[in-house]
Amino acid sequence: MSLVKWIDFQILGDERGSLVALEQGRLVPFDIKRIYYIYHTGVGVNRGFHAHRNLKQVAICVAGKFRMILDDGVSREEVWMDCPTKGLLIESMVWREMHDFSENCVLLVIASEHYDETDYIRDYKEFMRQVKNA
Ligand code: TYD
Repeated sequence: MSLVKWIDFQILGDERGSLVALEQGRLVPFDIKRIYYIYHTGVGVNRGFHAHRNLKQVAICVAGKFRMILDDGVSREEVWMDCPTKGLLIESMVWREMHDFSENCVLLVIASEHYDETDYIRDYKEFMRQVKNA
């Protein structure tokens, strides 16, 4: 099964423009505990390079674009994030890297847990060890 799991949002648009609403219990497949956004990313900056033991996230590129790499230790997939009406569901134990941010990129992330540094695996070799021992 593909690592790239899109969630399509409904556009509540009218002649004034577009609006997307996300509600807990609808489309987002977990209870929402945290929202954060990444913006003003410097040219050539790469982010991520970690996996989470338990955390699930939905990533939405609300403006601009960037390239997301997902890796579950078995397969590695790459996708351009450039659509504000699609969320990318990132399950736990998935290594992610973010590259090639456009200057205007705004990445909104909806998360299933509060911030917890102990939930991070920031070393790829350690991530692979944990995948193999699962
Ligand atoms: P990090 O998750 O490492 O960023 P990325 O994977 O996008 O490169 O987070 C960067 C810093 O911000 C790190 O010191 C932890 C802190 N942080 C919080 O305090 N709360 C949060 O919700 C997030 C996502 C990060």
